[in-house]
Amino acid sequence: MATSTTIEQKRGDVCPHQFAFMLDNWLRRLVQSPRKIVGEYINEGNTVLDVGCGPGYFTIDMAKMVGKSGKVIAADLQPQMLEKVRKKATKHNVLERLSFHRCEPGNIGLSTNVDFILAFYMIHETGDPKGFLMEMKRMLNPGGKLLIVEPKMHVSEELFKELVRDAENLGLKVVDYPKGKGGRSLLLTV
Ligand SMILES: C[S@@+](CC[C@H](N)C(=O)[O-])C[C@H]1O[C@@H](n2cnc3c(N)ncnc32)[C@H](O)[C@@H]1O
Repeated sequence: MATSTTIEQKRGDVCPHQFAFMLDNWLRRLVQSPRKIVGEYINEGNTVLDVGCGPGYFTIDMAKMVGKSGKVIAADLQPQMLEKVRKKATKHNVLERLSFHRCEPGNIGLSTNVDFILAFYMIHETGDPKGFLMEMKRMLNPGGKLLIVEPKMHVSEELFKELVRDAENLGLKVVDYPKGKGGRSLLLTV
């Protein structure tokens, strides 16, 4: 019997914290500049969510972008990832701009209103993309933006289109399919 492939069926395992070094290193900085990827969406004073933040490759740069009056919420399933972010934030002197949130599998579990959300290489690791998008929609301030970037290696064009359809069915609006962000990319607003 033919079955359709869904993102749920294709979801991968969670990237283990032991592989954090693969997510924050000099090589990545050469090809994925955080400023080029998210700089255009963030202003000083903003409240930003880095969901599935991993070891904080984007978190620290975003904390610098929001300035002293802004806030960045670092959220991840793995406490070990959050601990790495905390150490880096201390080293970069931006700890007071950060808050930390440990997510549950299947539930991000935040209700703060935010101006910008980054979901970089993480939606394919969640078991429930629709539930995830619904939660993100509830958190966005009017005019707020959600940038999704998914790795081409793990997420086919077909699966990505399914994610776009899910987002639109939930009432999120597609602003852009930005280029040069490091994967299949989608900018949404409410
Ligand atoms: C491939 S890593 C990407 C990390 C980071 N966004 C980056 O680009 O460096 C994916 C991260 O998402 C987290 N993650 C996966 N599923 C999650 C979920 N349902 N809720 C919160 N975090 C999740 C994993 O623990 C992991 O740290």
